[in-house]
Amino acid sequence: MRIDIITVLPELLKSPFEASILKRAIEANLVEVHTHNLRDYTTDNYKSVDDYQFGGGAGMVMMVEPIDKCITKLKSERDYDEIIYMTPDGETLKQSIANEMSLKKNIIILCGHYKGVDQRVRDHFITREISIGDYVLSGGELGAAVFCDAIIRLIPGVLGNETSALTDSFQDNLLAPPIYTRPREYKSWKVPDLLFSGNFPEIEKWREEQAYQRTKDRRPDLLND
Ligand code: ADE
Repeated sequence: MRIDIITVLPELLKSPFEASILKRAIEANLVEVHTHNLRDYTTDNYKSVDDYQFGGGAGMVMMVEPIDKCITKLKSERDYDEIIYMTPDGETLKQSIANEMSLKKNIIILCGHYKGVDQRVRDHFITREISIGDYVLSGGELGAAVFCDAIIRLIPGVLGNETSALTDSFQDNLLAPPIYTRPREYKSWKVPDLLFSGNFPEIEKWREEQAYQRTKDRRPDLLND
């Protein structure tokens, strides 16, 4: 998979890809992540990427021309499955979207900044708009990093144990059950005895019940999804 990220702040998108699972996925060539500085696609001496909005109003708007130049160049080099715009008024990111995206070959992610982008970018290039939650960030970069993390960990071969993404919270619309490790007893806080029984069908049943109960208590909305 290849992910091209268009941004005015490429430095914000460095460290998430330089550690842990994402770093290993890139080193193993399971994913390529390329960032593109929008200022490299400007034509004026000031390298302007934003301007005042027509009709008046507070805040700057990202201009159509540098974005057009960047996306058009990328599209001339390969076909893209999706061109995604990170924005608080997009569709809220959830596991099923990450699952779907992890199967794509090439995607572009455009990070919004200032008040957002000229509507013509959204009308003529963008195929999907994603929000990472109902709050406003200073820009789309951290949202894009979150989105990429959620996608990349699902690419086959990225997680050591292939099944471990299948038991994540939200897969099958269930939260994950409680988990424990050593020591068996800590400050008189005990691990449930069943986990030492060796009765794996019973352990599996207990985990399913716990996952269901936890989902019912914390996120009943998931059970009707
Ligand atoms: N840009 C600003 N806020 C955002 C959000 N909540 N999700 C995605 N991109 C954003």
